[in-house]
Amino acid sequence: MRLLSVRLIISLILGIAAVSFGFSYYEVLNEKRALRADLERRAETLGESLAGNVGHLWNPGSEKELQHLVQQFGNREHLLGVVVYDRRGAVVAETPELAKTLTATPPAAMQAVSQDKEESSFARLDNLPVHILALPIHRQNEVFGSLAVVHDVSYIREQSLRVWRHTFFGVLTQVFLIVLITLLIVRWSITGPIARAALWMRGLRTGKIPFRQEVPDLDMFRPLAREVATMAESLNHARHAAENEARLREAAESMWTAERLSVQLRRRLADGDLFVVSNREPYMHQRNGTTLDVVVPPSGLVTALEPVLNACDGTWIAHGSGNADAEVVDAADRLRVPPEDPRYSLRRVWLSKEEEEGYYYGFANEGLWPLCHIAHTRPLFRAADWQFYEEVNRKFRDAVLQEIENVSRPVVLVQDYHFALLPRMIKEKRPDARVAIFWHIPWPNLEAFGICPWQRELVDGLLGADLIGFHIQSHCNNFLETVDRVVESRVDWEHFSVLRRDHRAIVRPFPISVAFTEDDGVEPGEPDFNVERATLLRNLDVEATLMGIGVDRVDYTKGILERFLAIERFLESYPGYQGKFTFVQIGAPSRTHIKRYHDLLAQVEAEAERINWRFQSGKWRPIVFLKRQHSHQQIEPYYRAADLCLVTSLHDGMNLVAKEFLAAQRRERGVLILSQFTGAARELHDALVVNPYDIDQTAEAIRVALEMAPQERRLRVGRMRKAIREHNIYRWAGNLITELCEVRLDANEDTQERLRTNVTVA
Ligand code: F6P
Repeated sequence: MRLLSVRLIISLILGIAAVSFGFSYYEVLNEKRALRADLERRAETLGESLAGNVGHLWNPGSEKELQHLVQQFGNREHLLGVVVYDRRGAVVAETPELAKTLTATPPAAMQAVSQDKEESSFARLDNLPVHILALPIHRQNEVFGSLAVVHDVSYIREQSLRVWRHTFFGVLTQVFLIVLITLLIVRWSITGPIARAALWMRGLRTGKIPFRQEVPDLDMFRPLAREVATMAESLNHARHAAENEARLREAAESMWTAERLSVQLRRRLADGDLFVVSNREPYMHQRNGTTLDVVVPPSGLVTALEPVLNACDGTWIAHGSGNADAEVVDAADRLRVPPEDPRYSLRRVWLSKEEEEGYYYGFANEGLWPLCHIAHTRPLFRAADWQFYEEVNRKFRDAVLQEIENVSRPVVLVQDYHFALLPRMIKEKRPDARVAIFWHIPWPNLEAFGICPWQRELVDGLLGADLIGFHIQSHCNNFLETVDRVVESRVDWEHFSVLRRDHRAIVRPFPISVAFTEDDGVEPGEPDFNVERATLLRNLDVEATLMGIGVDRVDYTKGILERFLAIERFLESYPGYQGKFTFVQIGAPSRTHIKRYHDLLAQVEAEAERINWRFQSGKWRPIVFLKRQHSHQQIEPYYRAADLCLVTSLHDGMNLVAKEFLAAQRRERGVLILSQFTGAARELHDALVVNPYDIDQTAEAIRVALEMAPQERRLRVGRMRKAIREHNIYRWAGNLITELCEVRLDANEDTQERLRTNVTVA
């Protein structure tokens, strides 16, 4: 950098000096020309008037008058003198001062006589630069002699030197100022940011700062910095993967990482490709005025599947629901994502308002969602919604068939309750495809499910899959019992499979998880716990010393109201915590187009306000309700700095907030309070498990959490983090896809063949 500055300074000096000297030379030349022209003009005026007078006076014997006349002009500015010559060049009259220097008749005087015209010339007299103007003298139309007007022109040289001197110092000052300003600009806008960037990159390279840390302000190098950040992120991943590999080899552990999944899938899929289908897309493009934002929707499904697709490429087919989604896709409605580091393809499927209303809001979320979650909200089933549900499933089938058209033996992972009919629809057209469906929500008992008028069609659609996954075993059992009751089939309880219309579907639990692989402890540069908590609360304009956190879509299954009641009860029962404990609820508005959700949002807000009004004092409030969607990066500091996390779902397939909270607990000090009605409660035995309907019990759990000894917290969090690390999303995907790839597709064909033979024999 120093070398660069020296080179820059020298080039600047040379460049500016060359240009300035060029200009100065031109200036001096002009000045010289102007001074000479001025002198010539003055000499001419003087010469002409003098020549006329001499002409009149010149008579034989008038030498004295002539001498007197020329002497009168001796003392004019820069004038050396005047000489009158006769026709032969002999001096007739001369100013005495000139007689000393002008010893010979100048040729111009002779030429003026011979050519009868003015002659102007610059010459030197004893090294003195002079200008001589010679004019013919007439009398009675005859050339009688000549007059020479001689000026000292040394002042022109002095004047030119003055201009040169002036220009030189001017240039010197200019060069100095320009170099100084340039260096300051370079320092502020180039050297400074580059030095900061180098420091930051070194930090990233040596692992001294986490790559999650914000890119520093690098001024005009920002675009470059973003690229470097992405590169550093990949580097970091690679480094961690290598370290993990080494650690695994040493400990002979069977830890799943993105790299292991990617290798495993390449081996498993062979020439096939991976296709994921879900209603919710991982990235929505939203136009707000002139800006185009990329939004990651608040969805457990997206949190879980995005790392899988990032690890193995493939195609994710989903509803394009962003208002600017259509602006960024290609002719086949595809684009590569993640936008900042493309790793897989997203195929968007477009739905009309009516389709979205009937299929998504109607059948899926007013029908199936409350049907499968026992949260005491009555499911609504409308025939028109069912028709849209079928229609949209067919639309997605067509999109899938298009995507897998030229792929032999593709692997298709269908997601969730939006697509119960899709597995059979795909298999009917492409029996060579391996199709799995993962049901992200609970499967209720057969009596509860039995109220759905289309239960038969739903179960039949699902049984078209080769593999049906749920989070936990009891959901598998509930499903098999439903199958047993509603469709004609053979349920094999020993192998957990169903044979229907010669097709075998395997049913298995695959507890979903988060992309948690490393446990490096506190990251370098991570702020102190107390400082981070105080900063977060200060930014919320609250004064408190203890903080709880809750992160949910505002959904009636999440038990947010019950949670607030428990906080109220806790503050009533343990008033010593008033003024100290604040609960931050991050609530992303969800499905607000449905009245039940719309009302719930208002209810949650009102309840927070009521409790705050009852207890708040000074700058302390018991509840801060942040009613908007937050990115993972925005939520992470709350997870890290919280003393406890409340997950009080009334019913939940898994609940990934609980796992995300634990993954963020590098300091191993936050306590997890977890509803017994979540799938996560089956795995996270060290959480404080509560019945969210039991307000007293949850209030008591808050007190226990806040008073838990640091050692006990560390022990519990440490054990749960280990469990999540070992059962992360890569294991989930690895197990699910491995199981799916092991299904013998031809087994179904065999069965068909056998049946056909039996029928013939019979
Ligand atoms: O598990 C249910 C689910 O599909 C999850 O992916 C996610 O938590 C939620 O529902 C998303 O809801 P929506 O896509 O309707 O906003």
